[in-house]
Amino acid sequence: MLVANDVGIMYVSGGSETWAVRHAFVRIAQGEMVILEGPSGSGKSSLLYILSGIRPPSEGQVLYCGQPIGRPVDRQTVMHRYTEFGFVFQQHFLVGYLTATENACFGRRRSSVPRAREILTQFGLGSKLNAYPRELSHGERQRVAVARALVHEPRIVFADEPTASVDTELAHEICQWLKAYCGRGNSCIMVTHDSRLRMYADRIYAMEDGVVSESSQSQRTAHSGVRALGGRP
Ligand SMILES: Nc1ncnc2c1ncn2[C@@H]1O[C@H](COP(=O)(O)OP(=O)(O)OP(=O)(O)O)[C@@H](O)[C@H]1O
Ligand SMILES: [Mg+2]
Repeated sequence: MLVANDVGIMYVSGGSETWAVRHAFVRIAQGEMVILEGPSGSGKSSLLYILSGIRPPSEGQVLYCGQPIGRPVDRQTVMHRYTEFGFVFQQHFLVGYLTATENACFGRRRSSVPRAREILTQFGLGSKLNAYPRELSHGERQRVAVARALVHEPRIVFADEPTASVDTELAHEICQWLKAYCGRGNSCIMVTHDSRLRMYADRIYAMEDGVVSESSQSQRTAHSGVRALGGRP
């Protein structure tokens, strides 16, 4: 569904060059839950930006359903991003003057409001639907950010540490939710530092100094039979 061939990204900052991602080969198949792990600064967020078309790679190519993701980013890529991809930013980027529901629907049609409420309620925020980001805890804001990435039912969810600020139980619930979402023919790539969440992965990539490698654990976890949450994910 999504393939990255030999992609890399270089940043120029303060006169020096940093290759945050180097010669990366990544594959996300339909229905797959992919986990990306690695130490801080290893290039995980940069790789997600490339895969999702938020940033064009400095080298290499990303193909979505066989079509190249624009380099430079073009109109078609922007449309893919809007309709078919959902992105959970590490920094959340919620709009301060919008409620949790309005944030979850930001940039979407008014008809997405019931779906946003439904997802937020499933994430334990049923009593905070009309709360503003400043009235929410860090973990609650994170859940709103996850809901925003899911409300338009994207085919691929790019989730940058979506469980970083929530307790263990909720982290598992979010993963079960994403896993069930993949079970409906969608895909997800999730960055996490929590090795306990590996059990949800069909495929695991590890990053170190910008270099991506597929973990041998991918095969073992692929058929681990993780229980999917009931109801409509
Ligand atoms: N816009 C930028 N300009 C210059 N350097 C950057 C930029 N963004 C990231 N970098 C550098 O690229 C490298 C990878 O950063 P990235 O944010 O992708 O890592 P990460 O694995 O997501 O880290 P973390 O786990 O802390 O979120 C780091 O050395 C970082 O300093
Ligand atoms: Mg990051």
